[in-house]
Amino acid sequence: MKKDTVTFTDNTTGKSIELPVMRGTVGPPVIDISKFYKETGYFTFDPGFMSTASCRSKITYIDGDAGILRYRGYPIEQLAAKSSFIEVAYLMLYGDLPCASELERFTALIRRHTMINESLKSFYQGFYHDAHPMAVMVGVFGSLSAFYHDSLDINNPEHRELAALRMIAKMPTIAAASYKHSTGEPFIYPKNKLGYCGNLLHMMFSVPSEDYQIDPIAERALDLIFILHADHEQNASTSTVRLAGSSSANPFACVSSGITALWGPAHGGANEAVLNMLDEIGDASQIEKYIAKAKDKSDPFRLMGFGHRIYKEYDPRATIIRQMCHEVLTKLGKEDDPLFELAQKLEEVALTDDYFKERSLYPNVDFYSGIIYRVLGIPANMFTVMFAVARTVGWVAQWMEMISDPDQRISRPRQLYEGTSLRDYVSIERRAGCDLGEK
Ligand code: SDX
Repeated sequence: MKKDTVTFTDNTTGKSIELPVMRGTVGPPVIDISKFYKETGYFTFDPGFMSTASCRSKITYIDGDAGILRYRGYPIEQLAAKSSFIEVAYLMLYGDLPCASELERFTALIRRHTMINESLKSFYQGFYHDAHPMAVMVGVFGSLSAFYHDSLDINNPEHRELAALRMIAKMPTIAAASYKHSTGEPFIYPKNKLGYCGNLLHMMFSVPSEDYQIDPIAERALDLIFILHADHEQNASTSTVRLAGSSSANPFACVSSGITALWGPAHGGANEAVLNMLDEIGDASQIEKYIAKAKDKSDPFRLMGFGHRIYKEYDPRATIIRQMCHEVLTKLGKEDDPLFELAQKLEEVALTDDYFKERSLYPNVDFYSGIIYRVLGIPANMFTVMFAVARTVGWVAQWMEMISDPDQRISRPRQLYEGTSLRDYVSIERRAGCDLGEK
């Protein structure tokens, strides 16, 4: 029987080795190179991990060429149309859609942990009101490990599950508090009779002095956007969570590292950058100028919300969110929202331009999400916070999967060293040209 291997031949020595091929349920097979250095003396080189599978996973599958995204095998289009964020959270964590009693129990468990330790509230006072909410999130979320000592033992499955529930449950409360701190309004406690997204809207927008009615359109829109953002395979922030988790760091510290990585404008920070870009472009008359800037290698400007490492087709999430924009804006009587019109015109011009077509640059999940957040009254500096709330489910599910993975060991990549070769120490008196004025 044919061996499922590939052959590596070192043409400088003529030596060949067989490398095992591993095949998943669907998607590209992988070459197991775990013994490659030991058997060949070579490291492999893959900055940015363009061709590297870092782990096994059963959570999310993406086919970037076909524009496919599935959570635990379910197409994102079906989950977006039929599921809820809390149900998707259960699916992510436990692998299957819950029956009614399982969903009811899970929902109750999440609701039980929505409050944060009262001492945590004083952490916010250390930040100026103009602190970026993501800076607050990184600081406050990472400090959860200082409070919840009964869910820090990563080798104890009960601790792991309790930590998972706490992180998913407390993220909206921490996020809403970071918003309230920026407005100077009092923090609002969660109301556990509300749904996950309704509670977040309540904690963000209600004030003690007035009744607050949750707009069902806003609640459903947020729930749908959260489903779309819940997980996305081994993206930068999820890989950061896994790498932090590989050192056996506590779960709160690991997810805090994910929040940090997500903040970058090349990643989750793009949704805020898109709104800032649309504001800068201003109107359709400026589109050609900014398209030219995006194509100009000497100009650092990029079309934010465009392009993706994996999707070389339309990001299926962007398709759904764009459709949502039409529906939500129409329902809210804002169908002629100028920024949405500008975004659509920008997309239309870019997708007819050879530069974008040749590089398969399409709108990604961040291109339209900010249009919806803004019309829900969420400020641009909270867009990535919203992304982090939703992605906490994926980070937690991936962290739990990693901790239970028998292949799991500390992640410790190597390098191609291009620095100075061996040299001896030189006393300061003998160092030529050591005139500080010259440095
Ligand atoms: C997310 O990984 C995930 O799954 C992430 C995410 C998730 O759910 O977790 O999907 C969420 O992060 C979405 C991406 C959000 N970021 C942006 O919208 C920022 C703008 N996009 C780019 O910075 C870029 O497209 C990336 C970072 C998304 C992808 O970068 P890659 O895969 O490293 O691609 P690249 O930078 O090598 O670009 C390839 C070519 C280059 O041109 P050439 O050198 O071939 O001439 O395309 C060009 C780039 O200059 N290019 C762009 C561009 N994106 C890529 N040119 C102009 N505008 C852009 N947006």
